[in-house]
Amino acid sequence: MRARGVMLLRGLSRCLTVGIIRGFTPPPETPRLSWAAARLRFHSAGVFGIREQTLVAVKPDGVQRRLVGEIIQRFEKRGFQLVGLKLVQPTQDVLSEHYHDLHEKPFYSALIQYMSSGPVVVMVWEGCDVVRVSRMMVGDTNPADARPGTVRGDWCVHISRNAIHASDSVEVAKKEISLWFHSSELVEWESCTHKNTYNI
Ligand code: PPS
Repeated sequence: MRARGVMLLRGLSRCLTVGIIRGFTPPPETPRLSWAAARLRFHSAGVFGIREQTLVAVKPDGVQRRLVGEIIQRFEKRGFQLVGLKLVQPTQDVLSEHYHDLHEKPFYSALIQYMSSGPVVVMVWEGCDVVRVSRMMVGDTNPADARPGTVRGDWCVHISRNAIHASDSVEVAKKEISLWFHSSELVEWESCTHKNTYNI
């Protein structure tokens, strides 16, 4: 009885070993990644968040008031990387999708009217924690609560004309980017300042 048990265990252990080796041994033609290449792939995959992206839009009042340049400059100087940019006259379809969650709010139709009143500049910015940091740079939704040094705290006074939009979460950013941009409109590029922005 004991001998049969030992044999059974040996068989099981052999199966597991063969299974593990079959499952995990890389095929001989697979090149091993160098440490540097593996590290780059790790970061590019967004593990440290440096490839995080967000949608920022200068609303019609911001465009009319010629704030586009100053707003872009703030994001550039902060160290974020521009990967998408265009001036568009937003369609009703895009706006109703973008503000879908607000369609029952009393201000919804005024918001859609305002957002369709002229061109907007939509941008995709990339970098470490860019969603969270952009929201801080933009300031509170109601400019009366926005701190000086934020876009709304410096240049806006009323919630109905708050000049700028920034995605409020990574998930929302992904949806908004794919709503406003075709993937072919986004440019993946290596910044020569990367090593002075990140120690990785
Ligand atoms: S809410 O009510 O908490 O869901 O709204 P909030 O998240 O603060 O804002 C969502 C967007 O609605 C805009 N908003 C307004 N637009 C015009 N008039 C009024 N009264 C108003 N109140 C809120 C606000 O600017 C947000 O727009 P985005 O483009 O997301 O910044």
